[in-house]
Amino acid sequence: MIYLDNAATSFPKPSNVYYEVLNCMKNYAANPGRSSHDMSLKASKKIAEARGEIGSLFNIDNPFNIVFTVNATEAINIAIKGIINKGDHVISTVIEHNSVLRPLNYLENQGAEVSLINVDEYGFIKLEELKSKIKQNTKLIVINHGSNVLGTVQNLDEIGSIAKEKGIVFMVDASQTAGVFDIDVKKSNIGLLAFPGHKGLLGPQGTGALYIQDGIDLKEFISGGTGSNSSEMVQPNFLPDKFESGTLNTPGIAGLCEGIKFIRKTGISNIKKQEENLTEYLLQELKKLTTVKIYGLMDSKNRSSVVSINIGNMDSAKVGYILNKNGIAVRTGFHCAPLIHKVIGTEKFGTVRISLGYFNTFDDIEKLIDAIKYLGNN
Ligand SMILES: Cc1ncc(COP(=O)(O)O)c(C=O)c1O
Repeated sequence: MIYLDNAATSFPKPSNVYYEVLNCMKNYAANPGRSSHDMSLKASKKIAEARGEIGSLFNIDNPFNIVFTVNATEAINIAIKGIINKGDHVISTVIEHNSVLRPLNYLENQGAEVSLINVDEYGFIKLEELKSKIKQNTKLIVINHGSNVLGTVQNLDEIGSIAKEKGIVFMVDASQTAGVFDIDVKKSNIGLLAFPGHKGLLGPQGTGALYIQDGIDLKEFISGGTGSNSSEMVQPNFLPDKFESGTLNTPGIAGLCEGIKFIRKTGISNIKKQEENLTEYLLQELKKLTTVKIYGLMDSKNRSSVVSINIGNMDSAKVGYILNKNGIAVRTGFHCAPLIHKVIGTEKFGTVRISLGYFNTFDDIEKLIDAIKYLGNN
């Protein structure tokens, strides 16, 4: 199978990831942070190592400010629902994923105020519009770094400095960029950073994390056993335990740790360059096909490796079905981001989303182009 659905979950993973998941399962998948026997201590050590790897990647000084979650959605929910109260105002955008839009919708129904700013046809927000929406009660700006529909990458430094100037918490959904684009929480003034472990960070499914800056106090999310303060009935109020109730996904986090090690060893700039080269080639080849409509930016600058297209008037689901029959995996439809389709005019059939990863090849793209050519002529 030619796998072009990396925006959903990356595949394949580096070999050290597979090895470590199995190694953990076979040798040290005990309960971390609960017991003092060797296996439990080894599990705790691996979790700590993974926290350290994440810290190094995003310039986070204290790894305890990183909370492990099961995916980006859980991290986003902990953050948004934890910070916003009735009467607070949140600014977000129409290019967000439902993992942001749905918690915001829920909070709006509970009495919070939500403003969604527009994006242009390429998916970029306008900073002037963002500034104009800021009010006395604006508590949070939450922005998706890379669009999972158009691949547009927003400028975090600019948005972060606006938030800083106004004393507003800046939250970033880095689901599509973590592991490929440089993200520095200090440089971009990011207060809350949510990301999955199973996409660009090359870890297994069931992993994700949330960075919480010192001084940001989030409400409790799930309460339960943490292995700390066990004689008390109240949830610990310190990080990461406050948000890590119940047994952690040690094999998954062990794999995630190795995924990040692979990224740091390869060099994040080399990973980005490789994905950029593949994306540029894909776009250049797609542009030659008269039946193909490309959405968003037409070259590889300021974008990730997510490319949305349609072929003639074909329903995207049908295209995906036929490509799958030809051994090519893409995603079709609305990609859990309902509002952006109104901007790009794809609210009827959605789009065919091609999302490349570090392990794709130029040959994969050539095979995809051949299949699209065939579809376009039939
Ligand atoms: C922009 C964006 N945010 C959030 C998510 C949710 O990620 P997860 O499936 O890890 O919860 C996705 C997943 O596709 C995404 O693309």
